[in-house]
Amino acid sequence: MPGDNIIFEPVQKSSTYPRVTERIRSDKSLGWLRRLQPIVMTHRWRIACSVLAAVVAMVAQILVPRVVGLAVDRSLIDETSGLTGFVLVLLVLGALRATATFAYRYGLYGMAFKVEYQLRNMLFEHLGQLSFSFFDRVQSGQIISRANSDIRSVQMFMAFAPIMAVQFLSFIIAIGLMAAISIPLTAITMVALPGVFAIGQRLRKVMFPLSWVIQSRQAEIATVVDESVNGVRVVKAFASEQQQIETLAKGAQRLRWANMVQHRTRASHTPLIENLPRIALAVVLLVGGLQTIDGALSVGDLISFNLYILLLQAPFRFIGMLLILGQRAKASAERIFEILDEPPAVEDRPGAIDLFDAHGAVSFKDVRFAYGTETVGGNPGNEEAPVVLNGFSLDIPAGQTVAIVGKTGSGKSTIARLLLRFYEPQAGQVRLDDKEIAAITQRSLRSTISLVPDEPFLFSTSIFENISYGKPDATRGEVEAAAKAAQAHGFISELESGYDTVVGERGYDLSGGQRQRISLARLFLQSPSVILLDDSTSAIDVEIEQSIHQALKSLLQDRTTIVIAHRLSTIALADRVVLIDKGKVIADGTHRQLLLNEPRYIETLEASTETGEPWS
Ligand SMILES: Nc1ncnc2c1ncn2[C@@H]1O[C@H](COP(=O)(O)OP(=O)(O)O)[C@@H](O)[C@H]1O
Ligand SMILES: [Mg+2]
Repeated sequence: MPGDNIIFEPVQKSSTYPRVTERIRSDKSLGWLRRLQPIVMTHRWRIACSVLAAVVAMVAQILVPRVVGLAVDRSLIDETSGLTGFVLVLLVLGALRATATFAYRYGLYGMAFKVEYQLRNMLFEHLGQLSFSFFDRVQSGQIISRANSDIRSVQMFMAFAPIMAVQFLSFIIAIGLMAAISIPLTAITMVALPGVFAIGQRLRKVMFPLSWVIQSRQAEIATVVDESVNGVRVVKAFASEQQQIETLAKGAQRLRWANMVQHRTRASHTPLIENLPRIALAVVLLVGGLQTIDGALSVGDLISFNLYILLLQAPFRFIGMLLILGQRAKASAERIFEILDEPPAVEDRPGAIDLFDAHGAVSFKDVRFAYGTETVGGNPGNEEAPVVLNGFSLDIPAGQTVAIVGKTGSGKSTIARLLLRFYEPQAGQVRLDDKEIAAITQRSLRSTISLVPDEPFLFSTSIFENISYGKPDATRGEVEAAAKAAQAHGFISELESGYDTVVGERGYDLSGGQRQRISLARLFLQSPSVILLDDSTSAIDVEIEQSIHQALKSLLQDRTTIVIAHRLSTIALADRVVLIDKGKVIADGTHRQLLLNEPRYIETLEASTETGEPWS
């Protein structure tokens, strides 16, 4: 029996990922079910078999009143035939119904969970292609709630809708069988139908906007929770737990309100839909009873008829449910489509080439860039967004190490992001090995160029896996060598499980400097042609940084490197220094040349070397 021996999923099975190749229809004018059709159609056989089983179950159910009616008339009243035959038929019908019910439920739930799997993977794959501008502007709580509760409400509808369709069919058949017994009584039964229809329409109209509101309020709450958890250090540091609680309570209150409106509407409409037909039951009993007394109708027929009316209750109950689930699924599907319809802002150009063994010559030519100019989630971009880079030109020959120096907010990190094609410049060109980067596949571009950001991101896996992230097939020896070069081997060895230590959420159980060193080890292991160091050693102690520089120097020797740095010790790694201001290069030369000839360089250095290191 279920529960006695729970079947565990075989976790050791190697995780192969059956790729989801189906796509929803891109025509936004189609209804949500039509848009989902390509996905649903992959399960057409399963759906067909399940519906067939449901029809069998339904027929088995619907024959029962007729058999009972005949049994009453023939065996109990007329005594023209034995009861055993009828009992046997009822037993067989019962067994048939049980088996068919199992089959269609299993089939439909299996289908619905497959659709859920497909949608979730499609959504995730699509998220991977979306632009950074999308992630800059859309809250992660919104994305998480769409990937969870919205997909679930579509899944629920998928499982129920075919059952309800069959219920509707059973309704038609039951009406037919009832008409065969007595047309006047059937007409009385149908009197309530227009009323049910009208109430159903009203319910549908209210449910759709309400479902939308509820889903978006759930997303609001997910965002508050997400930010409170990820920002817990800030929340605690400012002792503003109370403030977060109040923000959450406000959102929860708004959600509760919407849920209550939904349930009030549901509570006031569904009983009407379910019980209107019961009025018919009373009238049928009265009229039918009189007819039976007159002898116009047999007792068995009256019993069958009443059983049919009871049978009709189920479809009526389902109408209410179908309307509610349907409207919720529609709202949710449209929320999911909002993400799926979002075009990937940065796409591989048709005919983009894979770049192998790049030399690493980098050039920016007259680049102009402002953040937030793209349309995201249907919201038009800001045309008047402040321009970060304007007429930015820089040529870096292969193998050179260049330091970029500039005030905070002058666009240094933006240069790195444009080179990786995280964003697309509005004008000008970025070239690698004299090829426009837009003509290179993003995959090969990003494996040629590596970025070590100032705030490294560690995954909640082992340190080994974090270091080998860019080269998953790295051996233990390679990972250790990389860690040694990044001066990380020492502290990793002191950890309880060494390289197998699983780091906490985002690596917050390590110090900022330790995280940066792991991130550098990641770089050393990947050994790319172009290296971007964006303040990557800012949190590492000066003495440790010196030893990392030894390793860096040998790594950087024949690779193009752009270092963004404030520390003189880091700038000293560079062959050449470029000073930027207001989105342009304003001075270019060696550190010594700039010190001698460029007062703005000294000014910038003074402003940014908070440690008061000597800069000459
Ligand atoms: N993702 C973003 N969306 C919108 N504006 C941004 C984004 N990132 C940076 N900016 C803005 O662009 C300007 C340059 O930023 P950045 O390149 O990070 O400067 P730097 O690295 O030199 O300190 C800043 O004014 C900053 O506010
Ligand atoms: Mg920066």
